[in-house]
Amino acid sequence: MKKLVIAIDGPAGAGKSTVARIVAQCLGYVYIDTGAMYRAVAWQALQSAKPTAETIAEIAAAGNIELTYADGKTSVRIAGKDVSEAIRTPRVSNMVSEVAQIPAVRQHLLALQRRMAESGGVVMDGRDIGSHVLPNADLKIFLTASIDERARRRWLELTAKGYQIDLGQLKTDIACRDKKDCERKTAPLIQAEDAVLIDTTQLSINGAVEAILKLCEQRSAHV
Ligand code: DC
Repeated sequence: MKKLVIAIDGPAGAGKSTVARIVAQCLGYVYIDTGAMYRAVAWQALQSAKPTAETIAEIAAAGNIELTYADGKTSVRIAGKDVSEAIRTPRVSNMVSEVAQIPAVRQHLLALQRRMAESGGVVMDGRDIGSHVLPNADLKIFLTASIDERARRRWLELTAKGYQIDLGQLKTDIACRDKKDCERKTAPLIQAEDAVLIDTTQLSINGAVEAILKLCEQRSAHV
């Protein structure tokens, strides 16, 4: 059977990475978390006192970001350093939208992402995958959920890691990030015309995975 290229986009907290990871696992595909790539660049930028758009673009241009997947976990390295946990801190989350707005950063990561998907058999998640990075993907999914549900999920995730976060503040931060992602000039977050919309507000992870696997089966029969 032909190995498909699957693009999953949507706003923060819609369940993209969990769903994408399981879909990739079920199909024996590679999972590529493009948000982690932007986060790795943001983390590296935060290591210097006053990062500028130019120095941040240089970090992306170096292209030394590696994503590896083992035992159900994605590991992210930049310049040889494992930043898998460090890129999930609120500090990085609050800065990453700024990084993702820099056109040169997007351009460098786009090239890297296209190369990663070249041989097919990939599930790539992000904001602009179906609309921009992989416009010819075999299957495009737009995964979303209400802002309240997305904030609740992130809050559960962060409190489980020991962060003390106010749910209302988290909701405001996510709404602010959504706005920046949707309104940026280069490759904003939009649902591609040919993407299938899946709303996970009332849907379990398994429900979303099953729906996507069914669509994959249908698409494989036609490619
Ligand atoms: O999915 P995430 O929360 O890890 O994404 C981190 C940030 O990167 C978020 O602000 C959106 C941005 N991003 C993007 O602009 N394009 C992508 N393909 C993936 C993520």
